[in-house]
Amino acid sequence: MSVTNSTLVRPARNILGSLQLPGDKSISHRYAMLAALAEGSSRFDNFAPGADCASTLTCLRELGCDVERNEKGAVKIQGLGPKLRAPGQPLDCGNSGSTMRMLSGILAAQPFASELVGDASLSRRPMKRIMEPLTQMGARIEAKGGDRAPLRIHGTGLHGIDYRPTVASAQVKTSVLFAGLLAEGETTVEEPTRTRDHGELALRAFGAEVLKSVNISTIRGGQQLHALEAYVPGDISSAAFFLCAAAIFPDSNLVIDGVLLNPTRSAILDVLAGMGSRISMLRLEEQHGELVGTIALTPGKGRPVRIAGAQTALLIDELPVLAAVAPFTAGGLEVRDAGELRVKESDRLSAVTRNLQAMGAQVEQTEDGWRIPGGQSLHGAEIESHDDHRIAMAFAIAALRAGDDTVIRNSECVAISYPSFFQDLENLLER
Ligand code: S3P
Repeated sequence: MSVTNSTLVRPARNILGSLQLPGDKSISHRYAMLAALAEGSSRFDNFAPGADCASTLTCLRELGCDVERNEKGAVKIQGLGPKLRAPGQPLDCGNSGSTMRMLSGILAAQPFASELVGDASLSRRPMKRIMEPLTQMGARIEAKGGDRAPLRIHGTGLHGIDYRPTVASAQVKTSVLFAGLLAEGETTVEEPTRTRDHGELALRAFGAEVLKSVNISTIRGGQQLHALEAYVPGDISSAAFFLCAAAIFPDSNLVIDGVLLNPTRSAILDVLAGMGSRISMLRLEEQHGELVGTIALTPGKGRPVRIAGAQTALLIDELPVLAAVAPFTAGGLEVRDAGELRVKESDRLSAVTRNLQAMGAQVEQTEDGWRIPGGQSLHGAEIESHDDHRIAMAFAIAALRAGDDTVIRNSECVAISYPSFFQDLENLLER
């Protein structure tokens, strides 16, 4: 495999071995933002190495924080307390929706105006979902066409609200809770279905009190945060690529150490178990409220799997790779209620469909999901990543079971979340 703008992926015979993964992206963003608001100096080992979390660090520097990163990936952030410094230029969020949406919650409460910009993909993504609650809390926000970046946020003293978002989005929930931390009074977010709870757990790890039940979270404004030293657990959304690869080779054996197993992120394990894999979890421990452990997977023959409703929201980042390997499973896959995939870094419902079809797969795309029969044989093809990291990685995995070689075009986008993806994959392959 060579990593240039295009990557050639040859079919493999098996997946064998063990690995440790770069730090979780969702947790890294949140830890960095809260470290900026805390008193004292925070340090995070195994901080996510991708361009998305680097965008968050760039923005925090521009907001006056002293941020250092050493060659081993540890990040040190000197907190400024609740008031940051007015930026001298637009804050560049790159490709990162998490940076733009979650940082907006903090900027809405600052005594200055700031502008948030992003790349072409981020500038197409919907922002009304955070503009609406932050405006209700007292901020004034202008956006291009009413709903798209660049965003101009006129920060002010905020007041708490009770908010019921219509989309199940952890980015929205976290943005509102971060604003709630800096607001007067109490803020509650009640989601349509449960989403990842790293925002709540990170706030607690920095010393704030947050109440949470399944889909309702409440924070009291004005709480002081204290610096945190933590090791960021391996990203389970990155683990998903290797787990799905192991699931489609009958003799595979894969062990992943130190990976995040938070129940709001680990639904991928239930799905793979439904598809027939045997999965064990070992050495479980809690680190700053997050469940972490080792996963071991060996494959087996399973049943058809259907993902819908609340489960879809919990699997949102893993759906592209599950769909990409579905033709190789015994029972196939049906996904419903995944309309949110159309407004990710690319329209992931279409991107997956077109790439599967390019490989000769039978797939039916619906308005909000796919139906993909199992037991198919695919051939190699030219795959278009659509500059979307999860599409590039998903099809690098499908390519391992194709009849011949596959080229992933614009594969450098894997650096958004996982710069060493192709090397780490190569180390697990038997050819
Ligand atoms: C994330 C939440 C999800 C996910 C994204 C990271 C987070 O987005 O797709 O990669 O860290 O909160 P939504 O909250 O918009 O569904």
